[in-house]
Amino acid sequence: MAILVTGAAGFVGSHFARVAHDTGHAVIAMDDLSTSHEWPWLPEGIERVRCDVGDRLFIAALVKDRLVDTVAHFSGRIQVSESMQKPALYFDQNLSRTTALLDAASSACAQPLKFVLSSSAAVYGQAKRVPIVEIAPLRPINPYGASKLAAEIVLAAYAHARGVRWAALRYFNAAGAHPDGRLRERHDPETHLIPLAIDAALGARPPLVVHGDDYMTRDGTCVRDYVHVMDLADAHLAAISVLSRGVSVGAVNLGSERGATVKEILSEVSHAAGRHVPHEIGPRRTGDPAELVASAGLAAEALGWYPRRSIAEIVLDTLRSRR
Ligand code: UFG
Repeated sequence: MAILVTGAAGFVGSHFARVAHDTGHAVIAMDDLSTSHEWPWLPEGIERVRCDVGDRLFIAALVKDRLVDTVAHFSGRIQVSESMQKPALYFDQNLSRTTALLDAASSACAQPLKFVLSSSAAVYGQAKRVPIVEIAPLRPINPYGASKLAAEIVLAAYAHARGVRWAALRYFNAAGAHPDGRLRERHDPETHLIPLAIDAALGARPPLVVHGDDYMTRDGTCVRDYVHVMDLADAHLAAISVLSRGVSVGAVNLGSERGATVKEILSEVSHAAGRHVPHEIGPRRTGDPAELVASAGLAAEALGWYPRRSIAEIVLDTLRSRR
C-alpha cells in the first residue's frame, strides 16, 4: 500500500514525503510544479509524478496501479493577500481540485480511502480567545481561510457518502527545515517571517520590515505559534496511523500552545546567526491578528502528538538550510 503525497515539491509536502519514506512507507510524490518550479532533493526510492491534482483520470489510474490507500494532500495556494486579490484561484485550487482528487481517489481505491488535508489556522479568522480550541467559531476572514474550511466540509461529507477516513490538520505557523539542510522553505515570493529575517541577517535580502509594533501584546508585535516542519511531518504520520485503525480524526490544530512575538524571533535569529537582523518598524499588515496560538490538547488526545522541537531549533535548522 502506498501514500500519495500531493504538493510534494512544496515546503511541508517535501518534508513529509521524506519522513514517510524514511520511516518505511511507500511514497508517491506528486506535484504540478506550478509554484515550486522544480523538484527539491528527495531520496531515490520516492517515485515522482508530475500531475495536476484535478486530473481525475490520471489520479484514478495511479491509485489503482500503485495500490494507493492514503492521500496526504499538501498542494494548494497559501497566501492570504493573494487570496484577497484572486478569490477564484483559491476556490479553484483549494476546493474544486481537492474535491476532484478526493472523488477520483476514493472511487478508485479498493478499500476506504484515508485522506489527510493540510488545513490552516486561517479557518478561525480573528479568534476571540487564545489559545484557540477546535470548537471555536469558524469565521474565516479571507478567501484562503474560507477555501480551507470548505475543503474540510467536503471531506466530512465524503466520510458519510463514501466511508473516507479523514483528518484536517490545521497548521499554525509552519517553519524550520530538515536538520541535514537538504530541504528548505522556498516560497516565491517569500512572505514568512523566519526565512525573511534570516536572509536579512545574512545580507541576502533588504532589511526586514516589522509589520506594526503597536499591538496589545507583551512587546507590541504580533504573537504566532511556530511549529517545526519535522513536527508537522510527525503529526501526519500519527494521523495516518489513527486512520489505519478504522476511525476518522476530524479537524485538529497543530500548534504548541506557546507563542513568540516578532521581536522575540528577531532576537532568536540574531543569536543563532551571530549577527544583528537589520530591520525597521513599518505599519500594520492588513488582516494580521495580534495573537494566533493553538490549543494543543486535542492533538495530544487524538494523535498522541505534541511538537517536540523548540523555537531555537526552528531558527537554527532554517539558518542551516539557507547558508
Ligand atoms: N511579519 C513581519 N514582517 C515580515 C513578515 C512577517 O513583521 O516581513 C510578521 C507578520 O506581520 C506576522 C508574523 O510576522 O505578525 C508572522 O507572519 P508570517 O507571514 O510568517 O505568517 P502569518 O502568521 O501571517 O501566516 C501564517 C501562515 C498562513 C496562514 C496564516 C493564518 O503562513 O498560511 O498564518 O493562519 F494563513
